[in-house]
Amino acid sequence: MIIEQPTTTVARVFPDGFLWGAATASYQIEGAVTEDGRTASIWDTFSHTPGRVVGGDTGDVACDHYHRYADDVAMMSKLGLSAYRFSIAWPRVQPGGRGPANQAGLDFYRRLVDELLDHDIQPWVTLYHWDLPQELEDAGGWPVRDTAYRFAEYASIVHAALGDKVHHWITLNEPWCSAFLGYGNGHHAPGRTDGADALAATHHLLLGHGLATQAIKAADPSAQVGITLNLHSLAAHSDSPADLDALRRIDGVGNRVFLDPLFKAEYPADVAADVAHLTDLGFIHAGDLETIATPADFMGVNYYTRSIVAAPVPGSGNHDGTWPGSEDTTFLKRGLPVTQMDWEIDAAGLTDLLNRITRDYGAIPLYITENGAAYPDEIGADGTVSDPARIDYYDQHLRACLDSIGAGVPLRGYFAWSLMDNFEWAWGYEKRFGLVHVDYQTQVRTPKNSALWYSNVIRDNAV
Ligand code: NOJ
Repeated sequence: MIIEQPTTTVARVFPDGFLWGAATASYQIEGAVTEDGRTASIWDTFSHTPGRVVGGDTGDVACDHYHRYADDVAMMSKLGLSAYRFSIAWPRVQPGGRGPANQAGLDFYRRLVDELLDHDIQPWVTLYHWDLPQELEDAGGWPVRDTAYRFAEYASIVHAALGDKVHHWITLNEPWCSAFLGYGNGHHAPGRTDGADALAATHHLLLGHGLATQAIKAADPSAQVGITLNLHSLAAHSDSPADLDALRRIDGVGNRVFLDPLFKAEYPADVAADVAHLTDLGFIHAGDLETIATPADFMGVNYYTRSIVAAPVPGSGNHDGTWPGSEDTTFLKRGLPVTQMDWEIDAAGLTDLLNRITRDYGAIPLYITENGAAYPDEIGADGTVSDPARIDYYDQHLRACLDSIGAGVPLRGYFAWSLMDNFEWAWGYEKRFGLVHVDYQTQVRTPKNSALWYSNVIRDNAV
């Protein structure tokens, strides 16, 4: 069979030992939401609330991965993956978010990890990919300090159960989304809209990361622990002072409010000034910044697009509360080709972002923990899924990674998002990000042509 090829053809090789993986998240693929003692998460509640998710879709069944994990691991093995990033559903292993562990929930992940190891696939565990136990939300959620301590306790439970077999731990996935989409503009669970809550949530997520890192490291100093951020690759629309100030503000609440505490043990002073009308930052306690800055072993970067920032253009304002403290800013499109998400494709934005992290924050080992593209894929008459645009997207972004590596960025691996089509949060099942197509009626998995192409990239360690 002939596999579609990207439009760029000059071969380029990755460093020896570069890690090749694919990623998923619990609520997006598992289903089985009431099985073996799992209780509700904020995403169960949110997706079952009319009007919150396109088409009324929920994660009730999703890809039924809870029952099909063995076949799914066999599929990963066929693709040649050397690593698989997945997340643990907190309400599966500690129902309600406090109290004793639920052994049946832990056993599922133990079976999954064993299956991965049997196929020589490294498990990379994300501890929190957005499914907060509903009971903890009812007690105040991430804007409440206690949630950070509950998260560290949960992290210890999972590490105690899996730490003999799992060596790579990602505390949080994209805390910006948890805080700003969950509590700022309400587009994600729990659907609250309060800028001050979004900022308190940001701090408590970071605190939870620091506490969890300390707990795991105390139990096993050799465990590799990091955090995954969706940093924003940004550029100003023009050199006008107003556009440059808009860029500074978006970079503040989109990037530096996470990176500065993690790597410099301080919050950016300009962001504190920008948000002063919303909060007095009283949620920051003595010692918190030292906890947050507990040394990490690596950082995960999720990248999809670059954003162009401008001062408000009359009539196009972005005043939805996503960016507390940056209300007078807007985003502009450049007319570049977009994916099904309407996100502009800009691979150089990834190079610029990686280079900037290394330049401004030092040589912490980096992994791309997500990168990929949604397209409305369909199975063709010949039974295959032709997705040349996705192949091109991956090819361009992998070349962008090589550009950063060439510039000295310590980029150690790459996880495609996603292994298979899944529940794309507020967009439901309509947006297909998978290397593997999922028929949600039959649960049949069909590797797309991009999956076959990616297998060859892994085999050759080259694009
Ligand atoms: C980021 C999230 O971590 C993941 O869950 C989501 O599906 C992808 N981006 C695509 O939007």
